[in-house]
Amino acid sequence: MTATLESVRSRSFTFILGSPRGGGNTETLARYAAEGLPSDTAAGWLSLSELPLPARPSGPLLDGPERVLLDATLDSTDIVLASPLHWYSVSAATKLYLDYWARWGGLPDVGFRERMRGKNLWAVTAYARGDDTDTEPLTGMLRRTADYLGMNWRGALLARAHGEGDLEADPSALARAAEFFDLTD
Ligand SMILES: Cc1cc2nc3c(=O)[nH]c(=O)nc-3n(C[C@H](O)[C@H](O)[C@H](O)COP(=O)(O)O)c2cc1C
Repeated sequence: MTATLESVRSRSFTFILGSPRGGGNTETLARYAAEGLPSDTAAGWLSLSELPLPARPSGPLLDGPERVLLDATLDSTDIVLASPLHWYSVSAATKLYLDYWARWGGLPDVGFRERMRGKNLWAVTAYARGDDTDTEPLTGMLRRTADYLGMNWRGALLARAHGEGDLEADPSALARAAEFFDLTD
């Protein structure tokens, strides 16, 4: 199905940066991919290192990082988890952010489950060794999570990169990044 111009315009992306380091390979890859978004698509960037979430939350919603992340999550049509591959899955900070999805689902008056349904979930991941099959635990976990919440799993942009400059030296990764966000359906 071809999207109308109207539906493409109304997309709003939030990039959730899950690497412990800013400006690393995953963020760099995500920023290359974001350059391929239509210029009138809203795109916000949030770093989980700069928005630390308590590991054992309880009680009502907390002001600060938790509220910022919840509001951005709910206000987006598209959530991009930009997480490096850590032990074949997402980083600990990304996993904790996803754990908050379960907490938010249990909070009264948020309507989390209803509001997540139909959103798009994407991943951007850099990894150091092996090949794309090493990311299967990460992509499988996210696809199932999306299914569980009635979200659309839109796939992962993957690139092997470890050192600084690895991405820039990989033209095929840059080409895949430029075309990753296909908003035509
Ligand atoms: C705790 C930790 C676990 C990692 N686990 C893997 C792994 O399972 N497979 C892999 O290929 N690379 C692994 N790496 C390497 C990173 O995925 C890789 O260096 C990546 O480019 C880092 O992205 P960043 O610069 O965005 O942090 C790991 C790195 C760390 C720090």
